[in-house]
Amino acid sequence: KKYVILISGRGSNMEALLAADLPGECAAVISNRPDAAGLAFARQQGVATAVVDHRDYPERAAFDAALAAEIERHAPDLVLLAGFMRVLGDHFVRRLTGRMLNIHPSLLPAFPGLHTHRAALAAGVRIHGCTVHFVTPALDSGPIVIQAAVPVLDGDDETTLATRVLMQEHVIYPQAAAWFLQGRLRLLNGRVVSDVPQ
Ligand code: GRF
Repeated sequence: KKYVILISGRGSNMEALLAADLPGECAAVISNRPDAAGLAFARQQGVATAVVDHRDYPERAAFDAALAAEIERHAPDLVLLAGFMRVLGDHFVRRLTGRMLNIHPSLLPAFPGLHTHRAALAAGVRIHGCTVHFVTPALDSGPIVIQAAVPVLDGDDETTLATRVLMQEHVIYPQAAAWFLQGRLRLLNGRVVSDVPQ
């Protein structure tokens, strides 16, 4: 089995995925930013990298088409969005439905979108966390695969809370990817079907 990882920046989830010894080969790390720090790590690990720079494309559909072509060049079984900061068009997402996952730093459906830790603190929640979900055209709202919860502690700020959540992201994302690559997880008629231990 083969997978590709899409990043836009630091790539800490990519590092966790590459370190997890998944039951499949990482065919490439692809970024929309030539300066994404994660690209250097991937190269150090001997993983192929590619950049599809969104600034090279006049509009979104052309970028999506170029990105889709780069992904399909590797014929992956699984596409992992990991800190990937571009909203992908419906056509692109539909082509990859059922074989594209994303990690979101909140307990969806709470706090979709950006600045989730700031929103969690503002809302005064006592439990926060992260979610791995199948990607569907509607942003941050695809079928949920796995979640992890963390406490919000007195004195937490965005940084301390983000750090606590990120540690859990690095646990659940490799777990979800491993289940998928083992053929134990799939999307059927919009619902997650799996035989993993609950
Ligand atoms: C993480 O909080 C992740 O949940 C979100 O982007 C942030 C940075 O991720 N998708 P990474 O360190 O680039 O993997």
